[in-house]
Amino acid sequence: MEKLEQMYEGKAKKVFSCSDPNLCIVSYKDDATAFNGKKKGTIVGKGIVNNKMSNYLMSLLEKEGVPTHFVEELSERDTLVKRVKIVPLEVIVRNVAAGSFSKRFGVAEGTKLLAPTLEFCYKCDELDDPMCNEYHIIACGWATREDLDRITDLTFRVNAFLLKFFSSINVDLIDFKIEFGKTADGTILLADEISPDTCRLWDATTHEKLDKDRFRRDLGNVEGAYLEMMKRIFG
Ligand code: TMP
Repeated sequence: MEKLEQMYEGKAKKVFSCSDPNLCIVSYKDDATAFNGKKKGTIVGKGIVNNKMSNYLMSLLEKEGVPTHFVEELSERDTLVKRVKIVPLEVIVRNVAAGSFSKRFGVAEGTKLLAPTLEFCYKCDELDDPMCNEYHIIACGWATREDLDRITDLTFRVNAFLLKFFSSINVDLIDFKIEFGKTADGTILLADEISPDTCRLWDATTHEKLDKDRFRRDLGNVEGAYLEMMKRIFG
């Protein structure tokens, strides 16, 4: 399958049409942004790591009964995916306090939460992706009650699977963000990516950060963290 026209360029990926109208091709870039694009940089090789890692995790999730957009890895950076309309929500799960949760609620980073929490943010760059609740989502028509229930169920299943998976490579899954899309026939699929860009991943022994917080917070060895995750997953 070949890339035809560029349909969209996001902060970390480009999306291209292809000859099958039900599919498209995503191409992972090395561009990194933080704080809604206010901080910009490059993480050399990130696109390759994120493409491979996300595809692998999605193929495992499919086996666990979570439907995803993943179809076929085409190259180091390019992947064939099912064409969906993205539900304009960032769906965030937290197992351990960190980042904006720690800031908002004054809970120290690293505090294990008594239960996994779920947050929604409305995907809107101009508004800085404001946090919202289910009433906001339904009132504004960003998703229906039925879609939201399905998204919530799938999201907790993704968390249960990822916790187990990362634990097997001595990594604690602190939190993550996922996105869902809807196919033309109305099926909800896990879309976007699951990568060190979208998860907080800490070494379970040393608590060293192995994710994009190294870039966000200028901690150094950003490329090394992505490569370490690659090594732990693929050997
Ligand atoms: P937060 O603590 O900044 O709200 O981030 C929670 C999780 O979501 C963390 O794993 C990083 C991820 N995330 C994204 O993938 N994209 C974003 O734009 C933001 C703000 C967070």
